[in-house]
This record gives sequence, structure tokens and C-alpha cells, in this order.
Amino acid sequence: MVSLTHIFSKALLTLLVGQSAALSFLPGIKANNLQLASVLGIDGHTARFNPEKIAETAISRGSGSEVPARRISIPIDHEDPSMGTYQNRYWVSADFYKPGGPVFVLDAGEGNAYSVAQSYLGGSDNFFAEYLKEFNGLGLVWEHRQALADLPYFAEKFTLNGTDLSPKSSPWIMLGGSYPGMRAAFTRNEYPDTIFASFAMSAPVEARVNMTIYFEQVYRGMVANGLGGCAKDLKAINDYIDSQLDKKGQAADAIKTLFLGKEGIHNSNGDFTAALGSIYNLFQSYGVDGGEESLSQLCSYLDKGASPNGIARKIGVKELTEKFAAWPPLLYLINQWGSQVGNGDSNCKGQNNSTETVCELGGQFTDPDTISWTWQYCTEWGYLQADNVGPHSLLSKYQSLEYQQSLCYRQFPGAKESGLLPEHPEANETNAETGGWTIRPSNVFWSAGEFDPWRTLTPLSNETFAPKGVQISTNIPKCGVETPENVLFGYVIPRAEHCFDYDLSYKPADKSRKLFSLALKKWLPCWRSEHAPKGVQRKWI
Ligand SMILES: *[C@@H]1O[C@H](CO)[C@@H](O)[C@H](O)[C@H]1NC(C)=O
Ligand SMILES: *[C@@H]1O[C@H](CO)[C@@H](O)[C@H](O)[C@H]1NC(C)=O
Ligand SMILES: *[C@@H]1O[C@H](CO)[C@@H](O)[C@H](O)[C@H]1NC(C)=O
Ligand SMILES: *[C@@H]1O[C@H](CO)[C@@H](O)[C@H](O)[C@H]1NC(C)=O
Ligand SMILES: *[C@@H]1O[C@H](CO)[C@@H](O)[C@H](O)[C@H]1NC(C)=O
Ligand SMILES: *[C@@H]1O[C@H](CO)[C@@H](O)[C@H](O)[C@H]1NC(C)=O
Repeated sequence: MVSLTHIFSKALLTLLVGQSAALSFLPGIKANNLQLASVLGIDGHTARFNPEKIAETAISRGSGSEVPARRISIPIDHEDPSMGTYQNRYWVSADFYKPGGPVFVLDAGEGNAYSVAQSYLGGSDNFFAEYLKEFNGLGLVWEHRQALADLPYFAEKFTLNGTDLSPKSSPWIMLGGSYPGMRAAFTRNEYPDTIFASFAMSAPVEARVNMTIYFEQVYRGMVANGLGGCAKDLKAINDYIDSQLDKKGQAADAIKTLFLGKEGIHNSNGDFTAALGSIYNLFQSYGVDGGEESLSQLCSYLDKGASPNGIARKIGVKELTEKFAAWPPLLYLINQWGSQVGNGDSNCKGQNNSTETVCELGGQFTDPDTISWTWQYCTEWGYLQADNVGPHSLLSKYQSLEYQQSLCYRQFPGAKESGLLPEHPEANETNAETGGWTIRPSNVFWSAGEFDPWRTLTPLSNETFAPKGVQISTNIPKCGVETPENVLFGYVIPRAEHCFDYDLSYKPADKSRKLFSLALKKWLPCWRSEHAPKGVQRKWI
């Protein structure tokens, strides 16, 4: 049994970063699946309901055969070998490798890395392979299981066909988007002898409990895409739903029945309105697009004419709410949310007529990736995505920070009482440990999408609560030289959302992808001059 003081020791705070289920809104939905699907051109519906299609598509687009997983034994606790070891998976591609080339690590971050590995190592037509080709690099996909120290432990011993390819002999370059982007930045910051350079894409390195700003970004993205009137309508709908819930009794039952059927009336206001929030799930990976469940589709269903001020006043908010409730994909989304938090068989309104009508929207996540991510954000990162109360509000007022916090308590019953789970995520302690968005490790390039909900917590944030006066610069800093805190080597991709660098077909991200390549061309020669054996002439890439 591990003692509590051991678990909470400061040294381990940043290191106990477990396997996670992506930086997602609504933790049950696998945001990394959606992101990958979006890059592979798979629509949102297929990504949600047939996730096995993702790996299948990746393999068929690549060489047609599977890239095999390899394993290494890693200490469970790097400070206490008596704890034993576990097997960490990784995947390698030497398709473009030439001796002397760098090792490129793509961190898969959240959960099962299988599809990520097949997508980025199996073929030549993806953003990662572009770097491998350009630099004769060895490609490595790393499945993240527990600590920041795992990858350095692995790297130190890494050989290929008996040749030492550890960071002593080859420059290691780390790439990642979202949580993996945080890991790319933190690993360069904390283990500069392992990781020589990093590309930190959409990396919210600042922990923060209150992340209502997530929906402010969704709102801005909707407005920028001509859906401002629709955002107003959705606010009117949510206000109407809230007014009915506030009346309690019959009115509250009736509004729940409208969306969930009569079997759903026992669900709490929080659980009911959380399920309705599923309409925003695709936004971070697809923007307002993404197929039949996208915001564009919902908005044109509600108001074909896209009136700039919405149509709630014209047709009546009650009528508009009824129309929203009848949007065909909504029931699927509600039931999918229900299935994530229950035993997998939510069937509100008897959507599936060959099974019992149950409508249970409040339970515990059962998927292991989601459970561990929930533990991480409930303890360390925060990121509670409650309603952006105010004129741009996109959710019900019952989507409060208190509701989001209650999900932590519900997921881990007894954990607060026993002292394992803090009352609130210890975001400030995490930032004190990591440096949050003030870190400026050398040889790191940062990118994020203009309307990326997660940009708000990256060093590229322009929010009122972000550090003031940070100048975002595309001038490549000198190798090994940190910029001052008020300068950031980075780029905000116009109109993009989360991790759009991964998508080669998204042209506005070309500039960002290219800047990292130019930076590597400037930085790599200095690695070579520092590491060249005495008397050997410097090699230039
Ligand atoms: C490693 O050795 C195997 C077996 O001899 C060979 O098929 C493979 O091409 C080698 N890989 C590299 C990168 O040299
Ligand atoms: C959460 O943060 C936002 C700014 O992003 C602020 O407007 C709001 O008042 C905060 N909410 C609470 C409950 O503190
Ligand atoms: C059940 O649902 C399917 C698919 O929507 C439909 O084709 C079928 O007719 C329904 N069966 C009954 C008995 O309602
Ligand atoms: C409907 O429920 C039946 C019985 O549980 C199940 O076998 C079937 O896969 C379900 N259909 C869909 C479309 O989920
Ligand atoms: C954490 O830091 C923020 C920003 O500095 C501050 O507003 C907040 O009060 C702090 N929270 C706690 C619990 O100390
Ligand atoms: C930050 O950038 C977004 C998108 O470009 C913009 O809409 C927003 O007003 C900016 N926020 C501030 C506080 O300047």
C-alpha cells in the first residue's frame, strides 16, 4: 500500500500525469478519437459511433499492414525500484530514417495509442511523416501511461538493431497536440538532455479550475462562422429550459419529458443539461462542421435563413425549444452521453425499440481512459467547463462549476473524505510546480488555433486573465536560448480550432508546420556541434 504522503509528494505532482482521455468537453467523449477522425476525414457521427473505423482507415491509408507495438519495462515509481515495473507500449517506423537523422517522438497522450501509431507511422501522407522525410528521421509513437520521467528512462536505453540511438547519439524531438503538447513542452523544460526541441501544439500548460472560457471560444467561433444568430437562439432555448426547471414540479417534469421521455424525469437538472451540452462536442475537432451532428447542421435546422439575431422572438421560444428537442441527432447524442456515464445502455425515449427504455444520465464513467483523465483533472488540472454565464452563454445555468465539481465526487466516492481527492483541483499548486504558461523552455515552438477553446490556457492566450503584453513572435530564437517571459516563439493559426496542425489538408496551418521545420534547421546544427566526437568535423543537416 502506497502511503498518502508518497502519492502527494511534490516531486511526483507533475510526474503522476496518468493516461488521459484527451482534453475534451464532456470527459466521456474521446476527444482524441474525434481529433484523429477529423484529420483522417471521417465524419463526427462515424467517429463517435464506430470508433473502430479510425484505425481501419489509418491502416488502409498507410502501408496496408499494421505497425507492430513494442514494449519496454518501466519502473512504476522512478524513485523506488521496489515498486516493480510495468510494460509501456511504443511503435517505431524507420521508413524514412537515415543514419545520423534525429529521433522524432509523437506523444499519443491520452489512452490507447494504437490508432495514433497506425495513423502517423503507417504511411507517408501525414504531418508527422513530412518531418520524418524532410529530416531523415526515425519515427516513434509513445503511449503515455504514467510519469513525465518515463520517456527519458526509455530514451536513455533506446537502440535500433543494436545501434545506440539514445539522446547522447541522436537529437530527440518531441511533438504533441493538446495534453501531449503540454507533455512536449514540460519534457523539454524538465529533461532538456533528453528532448532537444519540441513542437507544443494547442498545449494548455496553465492549470485553472474555472474554464468557462471554453464556451466563450465556441461562441466566438460560431460568430466568426456566421452562426451568431444561432448562438442567440441557443441561449434563448437554454434560458427557457432553465425557467421551466426553476418552476420545479410539473413544469420541470414536462421540459425533461420533452427531451428525454417520461422515463427521464428523475434525472437531476445538472445531468439533464449536461447531456444537452453534447451538441458542442464536435466543435474543438471540426469547428462548426463535422457532418450531421455539427453546429452548422443544427443551426440550419433551427433557422434555414440564419437570421443575424436568431428567430426565437419571431417563432416563440417555446416553439423553438420544441423544434430543438425534435432535432433527430439530439436523441443519439443524449443517449451516447448516458451510455458513457452508466452501464452502456442508455435508451431515452426508446430510441432502440428492441430493448428496454431506460434513461439514466447520472452515473460514473466506466471507460478506463476516462476514469484516469477524470482523476487527473479533478486533482491537478481543473479545466471545469461550466457555462459561460452572461450574454454569450451557450449552456444551461445548471452547468455550473459546482456541478462540474460534483462529477469528481461522484466518480470517486469516499475519496474526498479519505483525503485522496482534494476538495477542488489543486490547479495553483500544479502551476507552481510546472510554471504554467510562464515557461519559456528554449527550442520550443508553440501553436494554437484562433478559436481553439484550449488556446485560452496556452501561452498564446489573449484572455483578460492571461499574462499581459506577451508578444507572439515568429522570429526563430537562437538555439538553446530562452526568450524572455514577454516574448513567445509561436503562432496563432487563423480561424482554426484544436490541433489543426495535424491536418495536412488544413492549409492555414502550413505556416505553423513550416515554422517548426525552419526552426529545426536552425537548431539542429548546434546539437551536432555540441555532440560531435572530438576531432570530427561538424556535420550540418
Ligand atoms: C533492422 O534489422 C531488420 C532485420 O535485419 C531489418 O529488416 C530492418 O530493416 C533493420 N532496420 C533498420 C532501420 O536498419
Ligand atoms: C470564471 O471565469 C470567468 C472568466 O473567464 C469569470 O467571468 C467568471 O466570473 C468566473 N466564474 C466564477 C464562478 O468565478
Ligand atoms: C424499430 O426501429 C427500426 C429502426 O428505426 C424500425 O425500422 C422498425 O420498424 C421499428 N420496429 C418497431 C416494432 O417499431
Ligand atoms: C438495440 O438493442 C439490442 C438489444 O440490446 C442490441 O442488440 C442492438 O445492438 C441495439 N441496437 C442499436 C442500434 O444500438
Ligand atoms: C489560484 O490562483 C488564481 C489566479 O492567481 C486566484 O485567482 C485564485 O484565488 C487561486 N485559488 C486558490 C484556491 O488559491
Ligand atoms: C482574443 O482573440 C479572439 C479571437 O481572435 C478575439 O475574438 C477576442 O476578442 C480576443 N480577446 C481579447 C481579450 O482580446
